Parts: sequence; C-alpha cells; structure tokens
Amino acid sequence: MNLAYFDNLLAAYSRGIVSDHVHLGLFGNKVEGQTLSLAQELMSLHHIDLLDLKAGDSIVDVGCGLGGTLRWIDAHFEGVQLTGINIDQRQIDAAKGGPWRSIVDFQLSDAADFSESRISWADRIVSIEAMFHFQNLMGFFSASARAMRPSGRMVASTILFKDDASPQSVATVCAGFSPWPRPNLKLAEICEQAALAGLKVVQVEDLAPRCLPSFEWMGSACPDEVTDDPVIELRRIFEAGKASYPVLVLLPA
Ligand SMILES: C[S@@+](CC[C@H](N)C(=O)[O-])C[C@H]1O[C@@H](n2cnc3c(N)ncnc32)[C@H](O)[C@@H]1O
Repeated sequence: MNLAYFDNLLAAYSRGIVSDHVHLGLFGNKVEGQTLSLAQELMSLHHIDLLDLKAGDSIVDVGCGLGGTLRWIDAHFEGVQLTGINIDQRQIDAAKGGPWRSIVDFQLSDAADFSESRISWADRIVSIEAMFHFQNLMGFFSASARAMRPSGRMVASTILFKDDASPQSVATVCAGFSPWPRPNLKLAEICEQAALAGLKVVQVEDLAPRCLPSFEWMGSACPDEVTDDPVIELRRIFEAGKASYPVLVLLPA
C-alpha cells in the first residue's frame, strides 16, 4: 500500500532535503541552534532510551518509515539484529539505502501480521508515531506480544485527538495523513487492547507540548479560517491543546 502523503516526502528524501525521521520533533528548554531535524533525532533517542537496549538485542521497528531510528541503533549498538516493518514498499526500498553495519530484515507487512509464524524472537519493539494509521490495533498488540521474549520491552507512540478538537480540522488531518481510521481513538482503549493482547502498560507520558515547535519548521502559521492543509490543521489542533502525543512503555503481562 502506497501512503499518498509519502509521495512528496520520498522525493524530498531522495534529494537530501528531509532526514530519515518522519515524525514530530522533541523540543526542550531553549537550545541554541535547535532545528527540526535535531529535534526529530531527539524524539527518536527518547524512544530508544525508554527501550533500554543492549548489544546483541533483536529489535523490531513497526512502521519504520525511512529507517532513521533503526539506523541510529545500528550505528550505536554492536551485534544487534534489526527488523523493519512497513506497509509501503517504496519506504522499505528507501530505508535499505546504507550505511548499515548490521543486516536489517525489512519486511513488507501490516503491523498486525509481522509475527504470524514466529513466537518469542524479539527483545525490543519500537513504533514511533505510527499507531494512528493501524486499522487493526488489537492485531498489532497481539503480534507484538507473540514476538516478544518474556524479558521483552516495547515503546510505542501515537497522536490522539481530544473530544473537543475541531471536527473540520480533524477530518482534514485524517484525510491528508491517510489512513487514519480511528480519529476518536482514546488512550484508555489503547491500554485496554494492549491488556487483552497480553501486554501491560507500565508508563505513559504525553509529549504534545514538547512537539509543538516542530510546526514552525513545517509550514505557515494558522489563519483564522480552517484550511484544507493537513499540516496547518494539525498545528491548529496542537496549538489549541486538543491533541496528545502519548508514548507508552509496555511489558509482557
Ligand atoms: C508518521 S510515519 C513514522 C515513521 C517512522 N516510525 C519514523 O519515526 O520515522 C508512520 C509510518 O507507519 C507506516 N505504516 C502505516 N500503516 C502501517 C501498517 N498498517 N503497518 C505497518 N506500517 C504502517 C507508514 O508507512 C509510515 O512509515
């Protein structure tokens, strides 16, 4: 499945205009010279810190985009076994581009199907800003629970909308970043589905306020009238405090 919003991103990536991180940035207190690509790397590193990786781990990135997070892990941890899952073959082809030290097993698969015939083979599973796309969230958690070793650990993030977010803005965002099948999805349901799949949520943090400066690099300010631009409308929702960016740490139950 080709994700339409990646058409321009893939073209920009091949021209070296954007980095291999396709997610919002994580900003802290005013840091001189902070840029979106630096903040995107910091977002990725924040997930990696929570993963608690060690050399030799088997690590899966579900919805791996252009491979930025796996590439960082590959450069900093010895002997890791890396697996990148994506539903869009064009992204996998782009992500395969080096440099890689480890062999990376890129698989064209839906998040719900990545561990169909295998159990207990992954030490760590990461999924950055991808869950909002997943049609079968329960399937994603079930596949992760099946893949994870008993000592496994998982870190997954997504974007959620509050009930009082502007419906017009939400509709524009969901159409522009399609598929976004469940605009009304809430954190409680995510935790419930994870529990049903055999996973325990041990930590949740909301990074939405720290993502906000990303939009200064991504497009123009929000005019008074609602637009048909998904980036501007996502910015409007974040600026109004009507979105959350939960990062969950999960363990086998
Ligand atoms: C916002 S991007 C994040 C990419 C990457 N995690 C990163 O941080 O750079 C969302 C990713 O999820 C992938 N994706 C969407 N639906 C998927 C599905 N059902 N199964 C697997 N991957 C999916 C997209 O192709 C895209 O790579």
